[in-house]
Amino acid sequence: MKLWGGRFEKTTDALVEDFHSSISFDQRLYKQDIEGSIAHARMLGKIGVLEPEEADTIIQALGEILADIRAGKVEFEIGAEDIHMNVEKILTERVGAVGKKLHTARSRNDQVALDLRLFLREETDRTQELLAALIHTLLKAAEDHLETWMPGYTHLQKAQPITLAHHLMAYVQMFLRDLERLKDGRKRLNMSPLGSGALAGTTFHLDREMVAKELGFDGITLNSLDGVSDRDFALEFMAAASIAMMHLSRLCEELVLWSSGEFQFVIMDDGYATGSSIMPQKKNPDVAELVRGKTGRVYGDLMALLTVMKGLPLAYNKDMQEDKERVFDAVDTLQKSLLVVEGMLRTMRVNKDVMAQGAKGGFTNATDLADYLAKKGVPFREAHEIIGRIVLHCSKRGLGLEEMTLTEYRGFSPVFADDLFAEIKIEQCVRARKVVGGPAPEVVAQVIAQSREKLNALLE
Ligand code: ARG
Repeated sequence: MKLWGGRFEKTTDALVEDFHSSISFDQRLYKQDIEGSIAHARMLGKIGVLEPEEADTIIQALGEILADIRAGKVEFEIGAEDIHMNVEKILTERVGAVGKKLHTARSRNDQVALDLRLFLREETDRTQELLAALIHTLLKAAEDHLETWMPGYTHLQKAQPITLAHHLMAYVQMFLRDLERLKDGRKRLNMSPLGSGALAGTTFHLDREMVAKELGFDGITLNSLDGVSDRDFALEFMAAASIAMMHLSRLCEELVLWSSGEFQFVIMDDGYATGSSIMPQKKNPDVAELVRGKTGRVYGDLMALLTVMKGLPLAYNKDMQEDKERVFDAVDTLQKSLLVVEGMLRTMRVNKDVMAQGAKGGFTNATDLADYLAKKGVPFREAHEIIGRIVLHCSKRGLGLEEMTLTEYRGFSPVFADDLFAEIKIEQCVRARKVVGGPAPEVVAQVIAQSREKLNALLE
């Protein structure tokens, strides 16, 4: 007999049973479900809806059920539909009639909203820790590579010289924002919906604040319809997860490029690369590729739930049961990706010399030469034009800017003097970019310190 079987004359069709049951996946919420039930029972005991002994019996049995599920001693039933009714059924089997009182003044609608919030709160915290670990690894690498010169790109064409530290610190800024986004979403997530009932609250005088406090919430939701039908907190998590995956994916794309034979900027550790079943020479950056590929899954998770929610009339609708698998998938995918990318970065080796060599070719110091003229009073647009002609001249002859003689330079502009050569050394080009946010090693060192402080503040 179903827990809700009273008004039914026939049993559920076997096809429907299989179709609508969620226990195969929502059993993952057993801990949150039981914690929520314990807090609810304690509150019902305090306000006198349950006798003190009844509340104690229920609370104790729920604790035992939790331990038994953890120990793998409990078999769930598809007929009991979901984790909520499975737990209630097991409770009643164990303590008898009093177990049937647990669901007083509660609905699975506020219960499932509660469980999902508790779950995502924990996973938000875990995700923040993983992001922090990744940021630490990037900060450490940035410190080691403050003077590892490399080409910076626009349009994937060499543009201006930078350092590896500066490049890595760009990702630190992205991941710090991801962490902040999660932390911000957690504020709205951390509100207890329990007491919203099925949709219209309850006639019992619940102490909602007590339950919220016991479960570590910052407050309670203020509208029962919204309390049961709001999934913004899940969407916000998945939106933040999507953006974080996008950042990981861009980083991974660069690592794929950098580890190619053409670039040879980095060498993946053997533990983070894989081989080919046919080509004996191959060492592929599969980990980076897979993270790039998995980004699509998380976008899909977000889109799926947004689409589920977009046409739903208030309040709860069964469509919303579709939220859980998407949330679980987004959580798992992001967390695993953060873990492997951290390991991949920590273990990879950097070919400093190849990077520095790469920083040189392609006239990456041409802007600096234009700046040189501009600093001597030539209007920048004119300076740009002059250097453009010099670049054309050099490229036709296979020369770098540093390989021209002063006499040749003076043929293009009388403003050129001997001091130009110091200005176009790659190292000098980077060191001179001292503007806040620029790649000069001393500036990046400051940004590393500031970012570390920001990280610590976010983790408080
Ligand atoms: N298994 C359901 C879900 O995941 C729990 C809520 C069911 N409520 C209902 N009225 N059928 O959403």
